[in-house]
Amino acid sequence: MQHPTLLEPHRVGEDTDALPAYAPLPGLGVVPVNAHLIHARQPVLVDTGMAVLHDGFMQALRRRIDPAALRWIWITHCDADHVGNLRAVLAEAPQARVVTNYAGMGKMSLQQLPLDRVHLLNPGQALDVGDRKLVAFQPPCYDAPETMGLFDVRTGHLFSADCFGALLAEPAEHAGALSPGVLREGMAQWAMFDAPWLRRLGPAQLLDALAPLRDLEPELVLGSHLPPAANMAQRLFDNLLAAREAAPFVGPDQAALERMMGLAEVA
Ligand SMILES: [Fe+2]
Ligand SMILES: [Fe+2]
Repeated sequence: MQHPTLLEPHRVGEDTDALPAYAPLPGLGVVPVNAHLIHARQPVLVDTGMAVLHDGFMQALRRRIDPAALRWIWITHCDADHVGNLRAVLAEAPQARVVTNYAGMGKMSLQQLPLDRVHLLNPGQALDVGDRKLVAFQPPCYDAPETMGLFDVRTGHLFSADCFGALLAEPAEHAGALSPGVLREGMAQWAMFDAPWLRRLGPAQLLDALAPLRDLEPELVLGSHLPPAANMAQRLFDNLLAAREAAPFVGPDQAALERMMGLAEVA
């Protein structure tokens, strides 16, 4: 895969669609970049994909819902792979408000996003979307301080933001389709890439941070950077614990980049 690529949006569980894409990481593989759609009484879009895929993302969204029906746009955090099409979605969803916290609002204000569309929520608080509550939480692992995942108390779906991501050799439909070793290694690579500070946590501290999620007993984990993971939350927790001991991530340097570009020209 040479360029960011959208896959077909599809149903991943009760009331829930994935709007999946993949981004290539040259020399490393690919990483999933997922947005999600919760067909609650008040429909919720979770994240807005990458701006580089603007046209395809908006088409995919329109195939799953009339954007004008959206009531909430839950931004897990303000990285470019999560807010890429926020402005475009807001333009087509005049009823929708952006769910974030104070730090997220501050970052969005720097990107000139309209603050009168914001709805502030803190971890531990719930958003009532008519037929269910969505409970905000800070994941045990994240790359931005405003990060808030959400737990759908009606379906048992856990939307984990950047936590529990995985680098992969190629796209996969389900996390359960990956061999245990491939998933463990891919999650360790992602964790070291995205949250290198994880190595500084002791195992007891990380277990503490994971405990609230374990208590939720999520049926389906929907990570921004992981294929859908059904009935395997404990494996994800174990893999994240193991990732603390993985080798630090060191990216290609300029010489390696030029070698890769040279190879690309020959190929
Ligand atoms: Fe991120
Ligand atoms: Fe991300």
